[in-house]
Amino acid sequence: MAMKTVVALPGEGIGPEVVDATCDLLMGTGLPLKILTPPQGAPLPEETKRAAREADGVLFGAAGPSTSPVVSWLRWEMAAWAGVRPIRFFPGMRSPLADPDGIDYVLLRENSEGLYPGREGDLADLVRLMPNLHDRTGRTVKEFGTDGRFAVKVVTPRGAERIARFACDLARRRQARGKPGKITCVTKSNVLPRTDGLYDEIVGRVVREAGLTFEHFHVDDAARRLVRFPKAMDVVLCMNLYGDILSDLGAETAGGLGLAPSANFGDNWAYFESVHGSAPDIAGKGIANPTATILSAALMLEHMGLPAEAQRLEAAVARVYRDGKVLTPDQGGSARTRDMAQAVLAAYR
Ligand code: NAI
Ligand code: MG
Repeated sequence: MAMKTVVALPGEGIGPEVVDATCDLLMGTGLPLKILTPPQGAPLPEETKRAAREADGVLFGAAGPSTSPVVSWLRWEMAAWAGVRPIRFFPGMRSPLADPDGIDYVLLRENSEGLYPGREGDLADLVRLMPNLHDRTGRTVKEFGTDGRFAVKVVTPRGAERIARFACDLARRRQARGKPGKITCVTKSNVLPRTDGLYDEIVGRVVREAGLTFEHFHVDDAARRLVRFPKAMDVVLCMNLYGDILSDLGAETAGGLGLAPSANFGDNWAYFESVHGSAPDIAGKGIANPTATILSAALMLEHMGLPAEAQRLEAAVARVYRDGKVLTPDQGGSARTRDMAQAVLAAYR
């Protein structure tokens, strides 16, 4: 097997703890991987960007205030427009739901449009440029006065169509494994008919043309359904902000935020990271759950052309939860980050 290069960017807070534990685990598997850890820093150094672009896989930990330029580059500047966030319950995970067995869907987040990344300004400028911009009651922005701020939400047909096609590909691949081939679109099109409505309309058209099942829920209803009927979900396609919020909710239904991985794809670009952040409340204690990062590494292995190894790593995680002996405190255990990652390695072997 040819040597593959991975660039690991830990971020801060618990990021370095979970990334180090995961990298040690990866090295322990004996896979032909070379792991590079180029410098972080603000702005992100050119040599780091080059190493990440050239690598076979890029694994990120978690950003906090001083490492936000890292995720900003990985996600926004490199235009990783598709955020794939599997929500999957493994028996032994500490779900708050009574009957979580069988939760297995993907929350797909449109990463490049909507309300993120922020485009904000002073209300005075908006009032000057668009004095007649009005809401559905006819009230214009002028009526707010000029003391205040605004943010801009963007939806383009190109952006909606490309994420819809991505969702269809994902749903078809899951269908081959017995999943229903359904896309659940999440917007707030009743309140934002022009932006969210456009997204809903385009996604609906693309999904129907692809011969897959389409359904749409407003984000408030969707939140409720992800708690009440999570097993009815297959691919849940969210606009940017809604996907950010609902992926934490989904992670929690499966057992916790420390368990949720993600894969982020752009045009000829991919990087992998946990859904969680730098968790300053537990950073430095060595008790962060490494599962989200380990499962992100499994998604990375799959992307690097090592699908069997990726499956084996997921199966090793499943086994550690099934055994229930080496779990971090968030899962009711007393293991440390490193011990849990090493237990996954032992199960992998
Ligand atoms: P957070 O995701 O860091 O933490 C939320 C809660 O979940 C905390 O109580 C934390 O202890 C717990 N938690 C998170 N990961 C865990 C793990 N692996 N094991 C056990 N418990 C875990 O969100 P928060 O506190 O809102 O944000 C902290 C910082 O992280 C902020 O600076 C934020 O901007 C950043 N952030 C970065 C993200 C990224 O890099 N993609 C995503 C979300 C937040
Ligand atoms: Mg988030």
